[in-house]
Amino acid sequence: MHTFLHASDIGPLDVALAEAAAIKADRYRFEHLGHHRTALLIFFNNSLRTRLSTQKAARNLGLDVVVLDVNQGAWKLETERGVVMDGDKSEHLLEAIPVMASYCDLIGVRTFAGLTDRDADYAENILSQFIRYSGKPVFSMESATAHPLQAFADLITINEHKEKQRPKVVLTWAPHPRALPQAVPNSFAEWMRAADVDLVVTHPEGYELDPLFVGDARVEHDQMKAFEGADFVYAKNWSCPGVTRPEAYGQILSTDRSWTVGEAHMAVTNNAHFMHCLPVRRNMIVTDEVIESPRSLVIPEAANREISATVVLKRMLEAM
Ligand code: CP
Repeated sequence: MHTFLHASDIGPLDVALAEAAAIKADRYRFEHLGHHRTALLIFFNNSLRTRLSTQKAARNLGLDVVVLDVNQGAWKLETERGVVMDGDKSEHLLEAIPVMASYCDLIGVRTFAGLTDRDADYAENILSQFIRYSGKPVFSMESATAHPLQAFADLITINEHKEKQRPKVVLTWAPHPRALPQAVPNSFAEWMRAADVDLVVTHPEGYELDPLFVGDARVEHDQMKAFEGADFVYAKNWSCPGVTRPEAYGQILSTDRSWTVGEAHMAVTNNAHFMHCLPVRRNMIVTDEVIESPRSLVIPEAANREISATVVLKRMLEAM
């Protein structure tokens, strides 16, 4: 595996899930793979889980790890070609990428959508430059449109907790005070479609996700109806994806607090587990009662980020 952005990059999911279970049982078994090799983790944005879990995964595999926070301690980077660099950005990505690549064997990149130019975001302008110009294996630690390490950890968590072969999994939009990217719901929908689950997506009108990720998954605009009989509820906010409302790309279309996941919502489910990728705004996305309930999986889900990253880095090292 030379790049990791989509579910298809990891091959059959049953094989990947079996590998994840084996690694979870013995997470240092492959520590010889990374000997004398270095992973560079580049963050254009803040992170708690991705930063810690990916470093831990790399060390599980014996890798040296270098972490760079772009815009905090490094020169500010220009990412667009053709720009006259007379502002506050001192270095261009086109020089910085090959320089950074010369110090490492594989590269993880965390970058967010700008949420102003849909075409630029969905072209993955920053991540694709790393893939093109580094000459090294590149994996997404969340990019403009996708968060595959999170979605893989979500799938591992569902697989561990499901009580039937084909659970009903509901991805629900929930309100948030800031405009957020679509990366998490995009990847969650993509990975759930690739897995053996009954996926239902629910959101207010205008929040339709890109068909590239959501495909022909069932969309239900009545949130309570969508929740009926659910085995897993996955809550997330996202801004307008610009599919049915191109002019509103990246904007907040609703702040309707009736979409905040509470006990009344969970009461119509099949005693569903609650999931969220974190960080989460309590009593905006989900009530205190639901996130603190015994059916909440937010902590094991975050812990599985170490496992998903270990599988991905292992695959990349084996392919070198
Ligand atoms: N879920 C997730 O990616 O968390 P961080 O933004 O803290 O890395």
